[in-house]
Amino acid sequence: MAPDLIAPSILSADFARLGEEVDHVLAAGADIVHFDVMDNHYVPNLTIGPLVCEALRKHGVTAPIDVHLMVKPVDRIIPDFAAAGATYITFHPEASEHIDRTLQLIRNEGCKAGLVFNPATSLSYLDYVMDKVDMVLLMSVNPGFGGQSFIPETMEKLRQARKLIDASGLEIRLEVDGGVKADNIGAIKAAGADTFVSGSGIFGKGRDSDPHRYDSIIQEM
Ligand code: DX5
Ligand code: ZN
Repeated sequence: MAPDLIAPSILSADFARLGEEVDHVLAAGADIVHFDVMDNHYVPNLTIGPLVCEALRKHGVTAPIDVHLMVKPVDRIIPDFAAAGATYITFHPEASEHIDRTLQLIRNEGCKAGLVFNPATSLSYLDYVMDKVDMVLLMSVNPGFGGQSFIPETMEKLRQARKLIDASGLEIRLEVDGGVKADNIGAIKAAGADTFVSGSGIFGKGRDSDPHRYDSIIQEM
């Protein structure tokens, strides 16, 4: 299995000092930057787009950027994120008219492609596209906001997704997003996840500018 990756969700970072916040979590040992894109249409919140992704690259961020699209429609924003420096682009199958086409579009743009499953969305969306997927992202909260509680049924779904991925023999990451903290990450890993998104669990501890304030939180994960 691929090594575990910690993916801080910048949704809970201090947006007024975003470059610095990302530098600090990466220096503390985080592996990839989770970038939540919300459109106030597919989900009831509005966040950031390709300009901010590009700004992080210009700031000097070289770590993979994991763009989680919570937008509808999906396809027309994909080339902009690829040009802005996205590494992974994941989307919700319910938000795409043509899932196979969207997956191919992401890879054709030079990015890694992923499908995101809401808590009540069936893994059967993977049935005919497994070979076009580099990441399976299971939401352990309903999308739209940081700081929600982990939905326990996700554990069983993670075990099912792990079996599907292992049976495929393909190199596919299994990411979990929502309510992930230092105190439940061990159980989530045991259920099969290898990539852990955490927003409020990492950034939610106050707003000071000590460059080492994330070290112990991330090392605990
Ligand atoms: C929710 C987002 C998450 C969110 C996670 O729609 O996809 O990435 O930032 O935040 P926490 O870790 O606080 O649940
Ligand atoms: Zn996310």
